[in-house]
Amino acid sequence: MSRELPAKDHAALMDLVYRRQRYVYDLTRKYYLFGRDRLIRELALKPGERLVEVGCGTARNLVRIARLYPDAELFGLDASQEMLKSAAESLARAGLSDRVRLVHGYAENLSPALFGEERPFDRAAFSYSLSMIPDWRRALVAAGSALSKSGSIHVVDFGDLTGLGRFGASCLRGWLSLFHVEPRVEILHGVERQTAGNSADGAALWVSPARYAFLWKCSKVEAEAFALTDVADR
Ligand SMILES: C[S@@+](CC[C@H](N)C(=O)[O-])C[C@H]1O[C@@H](n2cnc3c(N)ncnc32)[C@H](O)[C@@H]1O
Repeated sequence: MSRELPAKDHAALMDLVYRRQRYVYDLTRKYYLFGRDRLIRELALKPGERLVEVGCGTARNLVRIARLYPDAELFGLDASQEMLKSAAESLARAGLSDRVRLVHGYAENLSPALFGEERPFDRAAFSYSLSMIPDWRRALVAAGSALSKSGSIHVVDFGDLTGLGRFGASCLRGWLSLFHVEPRVEILHGVERQTAGNSADGAALWVSPARYAFLWKCSKVEAEAFALTDVADR
């Protein structure tokens, strides 16, 4: 990958987006960030497994994961110090500060060493973060490298929105762009080509009604190969 790592500006931009939004984030996003609880349920973490959420935001997901999988080791990474303040507060309120480790950093640089760890993670989750991460390919490759041999990556994000009709999709895209969110249709379409559209329950790819959101599960090897392939629709 030849592109530069994101500049400091991206962290500053994320802080700008979330400086005030973080206070209403959990309340408002539950109405339109669909599929997050499905991703959490399907993680089926075994005791002792180590999961990192990349772009963990307010730790809304990490709190739920910690409750559902009390024996998992959890880590959260985010580029926004503002979001991390909310994450630390949520974890403290939930009595989970000791169970989840948070770090400020870029997805594109993810490694266990960022958390002062040598052991790789078993799972990496991206929940509505790939659509904000400038270099999603680099982030997938970094996540792959940070995982154990049998590690897996779990993604939930906006779909291509085509089921909303042209007008609906374009309004939603316009609104999302105010928050610097760009649905990664190239990921959805590339994965659809690879999985031949198999979107059954438990399959690697699930697409929600109206193609609003998708969930994608893959091994570290698949994620790395996918990120390094020249996916069409770019
Ligand atoms: C839409 S929020 C999702 C938060 C959380 N995962 C959820 O599902 O509620 C996207 C998060 O990704 C973070 N983010 C954006 N670009 C990033 C990057 N390059 N590295 C790490 N985090 C990033 C943002 O700061 C923000 O907290």
